[in-house]
Amino acid sequence: MKKEHVKEFYDIVWTEYLPEFDASKNHLEMFFTEEEVKDKEILDCGCGTGIFTNIFASMGAKNAIGLDISPGSLETGMALKKKLGLKNIDFVEGDMLNLSYGDESFDIVWAWGSAHHTENPMKAINEIDRVLKKNGQLLLALYKKTKLTWIHEIIRKILIRSPKVCWVIISKILAFFLWPIVKFREIFRKKSRKGEKLEELILDWYFVPIRFYYKPEEIKDLLKRKGYTIEKYLPGSGRFESASNFIFKAKKSI
Ligand SMILES: C[S@@+](CC[C@H](N)C(=O)[O-])C[C@H]1O[C@@H](n2cnc3c(N)ncnc32)[C@H](O)[C@@H]1O
Repeated sequence: MKKEHVKEFYDIVWTEYLPEFDASKNHLEMFFTEEEVKDKEILDCGCGTGIFTNIFASMGAKNAIGLDISPGSLETGMALKKKLGLKNIDFVEGDMLNLSYGDESFDIVWAWGSAHHTENPMKAINEIDRVLKKNGQLLLALYKKTKLTWIHEIIRKILIRSPKVCWVIISKILAFFLWPIVKFREIFRKKSRKGEKLEELILDWYFVPIRFYYKPEEIKDLLKRKGYTIEKYLPGSGRFESASNFIFKAKKSI
């Protein structure tokens, strides 16, 4: 049931917003070079707008698949594919808890900010691991558990009770008031993911029906136990310290 709510939620979010292409490409290139992407089979798991799927395809992937449970999101991705005239790309409606692909199907699985919105993030990670080829590369971005997590959770649980039709407008109002603080903080703090609107981040942060948080160390241990070699680790990438994702790029060695 909660899964249905997530689906409906992202049908609203990702038909309303599309992150900037160039800013998102710069962001992706922090993790993958054109050489790494070229001729690879890539799965963008929980692709949202499909911005990264389209970027992978435009960088020369053999084929890039954007998978998501939200049909609205996939339509946004397909519209961008059409606009860019890309052929090496598919969008598929599916559940990352039960991927329909065989074992070891992909060279790269990119799962930015998606596993923590499923009902069972550990199962999602197991599925990603299953479909990734040996020596394949994984990108996993998850919400970080911080000292402020409980406060954000209280706010989210209050806001989520408001009528759905008000969610976008509440996010816009909050963005209006928070904008000066965020701009001021950006002078001192470099953020790594640009090209997203503040109201979009607030909507995604406070109104999403399911979210889990993790400590980087527990995910690092998990990946090591599964036989991954960590290639890159970034402790955060959000506008607010507490809102950060942490990111692991890792190679499946076993
Ligand atoms: C925060 S968005 C991230 C989107 C995209 N990866 C990005 O970084 O722009 C999370 C996405 O995960 C998708 N999602 C949530 N649960 C899912 C599931 N069980 N299977 C597939 N996709 C799912 C949502 O529909 C949503 O588009």
